[in-house]
Amino acid sequence: MRLRKFDDMHLHLRQGEMLKLVLPYTLSQCARALVMPNTSPAVLTASDLTNYRSEILQAAGSAKAGFEPLMTFKITPACDSSSIASLKSAGAIAGKLYPDGVTTNSEGGVRDFRALFPVYEAMQEAGLVLCLHGELPGAFSLDREEKFLEVLQEIAARFTRLKIVLEHVTTAAAVACVSALPANVAATITLHHLYITLDDLLGDKLNPHNFCKPVAKRPEDREALIKAATSGSAKFFFGSDSAPHSIEAKECACGAAGVYSAPVLAPLLKQLFDDVGSDQLENFVSRFGADFYGLPVNQDFIELKEEEWLVPEVLDGIKPFMAGSRLRWRLV
Ligand code: NCD
Ligand code: ZN
Repeated sequence: MRLRKFDDMHLHLRQGEMLKLVLPYTLSQCARALVMPNTSPAVLTASDLTNYRSEILQAAGSAKAGFEPLMTFKITPACDSSSIASLKSAGAIAGKLYPDGVTTNSEGGVRDFRALFPVYEAMQEAGLVLCLHGELPGAFSLDREEKFLEVLQEIAARFTRLKIVLEHVTTAAAVACVSALPANVAATITLHHLYITLDDLLGDKLNPHNFCKPVAKRPEDREALIKAATSGSAKFFFGSDSAPHSIEAKECACGAAGVYSAPVLAPLLKQLFDDVGSDQLENFVSRFGADFYGLPVNQDFIELKEEEWLVPEVLDGIKPFMAGSRLRWRLV
């Protein structure tokens, strides 16, 4: 069956060797991807952004014609509203705010959300999207997303023309909050949060490959995410948050957060929407995100075949999501 290519509206591509290893999976399924700026060093300035885009396109090689990286910059406490115009002219379409210490490479991130009002204001005027990692530093880990919702509500109430995306929502509370806010506020939902709960991380023996931020929550939260993703609400669209880390970085005493889902996006999303009996897959993966970001719908297609296959245990030293599982749909 033919499926329109995806727009992955939240993706970690990394740099260097890792970028070259993981990018082909995105190229094979996605027409565009919103590329996260929490690289090391981070994408902070217009020239960082230009250089990172060039590195991605170079890594894409001959496939670059069929792929558009949508570039972002990282909003830090030092971010100045005067830099917004140059970031925009370098091609940024969004800025990503990481609260302090809540995830990979977020050390020294934001604690005083109000101090950045001038930055949000400049972004609103420039037509840039504000992407929020929605977890409140210092709150109990399972409550961090819910406690952040007040911050979201305050920013949304103050900047009514600013497009805001609450990234990778994991709770029924976040789904309800975003649903209730005006149309300028939307949310991304990952593949893995549609499949796993906290039990898949630590209900049995610890599985570090299902460890990500925000951590997967309760079964009823997962149900709310499935409902939001499959019901055809334009406020919820796909962002994989595929976040590769080497096996060594995951299987150790201080394991990194991130699930590497890029290799299995289309087969698993097709399967989930089928199982739920939803006809909203194309809207979720290729239309609602584009609409929100003001982009034309992509015109590229992929082919899926109903044929069982086994997700490899390891791909280039990285464990993919659902490694070792049998999937129903295969990418041709
Ligand atoms: C992401 C990463 O590894 O960069 N990790 C994750 O657990 N999701 C960062 C992020 O999006 O939080
Ligand atoms: Zn992410």
